[in-house]
Amino acid sequence: MRVMRDGFQKLLGTADLLPEESARWTHAEAIVRATMRRFGFGEIRTPIMEPTGLFEKGTGASTDIVQKEMYTFTDRGDRSITLRPEGTPSAVRAYLEASLGAQRPAWKLFYSGPMFRAERPQKGRLRQFHQYGAELIGSALPAADVEIITLAEATLRDLGVGEFSLILNSIGDADARNAHNAALRDYLGRDDVRTKLCDDCIRRAATNPLRIFDCKKESCLRLIARAPTIDGYLTDDDRSHFDTVRSSLKSLGIPYEIDVRMVRGLDYYTRTTFEIKSSRLGAQDSLLGGGRYDRLVELYDGPPTPAVGFAAGWERILEVLEMAGAPPNGSPPLDVFVCTLGEQAQTRAAHILAAIRALGFSADRDFLGRGLKAQMKEADRSGARYVLIVGDDEIARGRFTLRRMDTSEQTDIDADHTKWTQGTFAV
Ligand code: HAM
Repeated sequence: MRVMRDGFQKLLGTADLLPEESARWTHAEAIVRATMRRFGFGEIRTPIMEPTGLFEKGTGASTDIVQKEMYTFTDRGDRSITLRPEGTPSAVRAYLEASLGAQRPAWKLFYSGPMFRAERPQKGRLRQFHQYGAELIGSALPAADVEIITLAEATLRDLGVGEFSLILNSIGDADARNAHNAALRDYLGRDDVRTKLCDDCIRRAATNPLRIFDCKKESCLRLIARAPTIDGYLTDDDRSHFDTVRSSLKSLGIPYEIDVRMVRGLDYYTRTTFEIKSSRLGAQDSLLGGGRYDRLVELYDGPPTPAVGFAAGWERILEVLEMAGAPPNGSPPLDVFVCTLGEQAQTRAAHILAAIRALGFSADRDFLGRGLKAQMKEADRSGARYVLIVGDDEIARGRFTLRRMDTSEQTDIDADHTKWTQGTFAV
């Protein structure tokens, strides 16, 4: 890697996608778009910057994201702007701003794009990363949770992500959360616990005790292992909702594990939460995460509107695909490489490329004025199916040589490109 003058390297935690890698992304994105279409989800594209308050209120003031990870700046009009750390608040804002709920009671939306979190970069964790996600807004039924989990699974299967495991929990609705919060506060306030907590957890205990389950510090983990968990506080309604989700998944043959300590790092969740992890990844093993968020629309001053969704991390998925031996390049190789020999041929080349491309094939040529041998080498490297040899001699003869690269068969084709058809390049 080259060190750039003046320190103009890419920022820490960001990445450049060069053509071969971006071709893999484009290919994978096309697969996910097709899956989303099959499930009836329509794409939504929202701005990557939003008013800071949208995330403070939605993602949650006590979350790590809002406390430490947002890229927030003041713009020239003295407004506080944030580069979106996640897509759910934006999707809900757009849903409300366009009054989608007034048109139809339930909406299925999906998105794919960059997100920004100022986390400490490590393998699988970037500061600009990319997610695809889906939100089903308007249904309170457990069937909607199942639809979202099924969709999340289907995207991974369609992409060819081999092994993964689904982890499920219910964090209940307001009553259960309040009761659990009170129990957690009692526990965290005990002398033998409080004095051993890290500074972050002391802050969490005061603001939002549930967030202590986000802590990864060894000393806190031991204390957290003994903290009261949400499952003891679920109401009958929470429990029946969760039971229906579980039995539906079971009947669909979708295996899952329950983790009562999984709270997810965002404040808006109610009831079902889930993550899908890959055993192929290291510490950052979560491919996707999601859950129900029945209060978020209301929190943004909309009418009571239940919702459920998920988002997946593209970088992690592509890493798993690469490890699973997916072809490095999702794009098909070049169809025709045009080799030119002589001055007349040079002038004709642009017309020839245009004619081949107009037939729907990909076509390329040498742009360095190199000899035939070097051009053939370049054609080989490009993986071209055919090489078309256009020399001054061929032009004079009125016939070009078309060489099929896999069999080395050669045929003569008419030099008049207006006579070419798709069949010309399908011999
Ligand atoms: P999340 O769990 O914060 O959920 O992120 C979802 C996924 O994004 C993670 O599982 C991970 O694959 C990827 N991800 C998150 N942070 C990074 C990072 N710094 N670098 C690389 N990948 C990362 C959400 O964002 C919610 N909006 C999901 C949701 C949608 N819930 C309901 N609807």
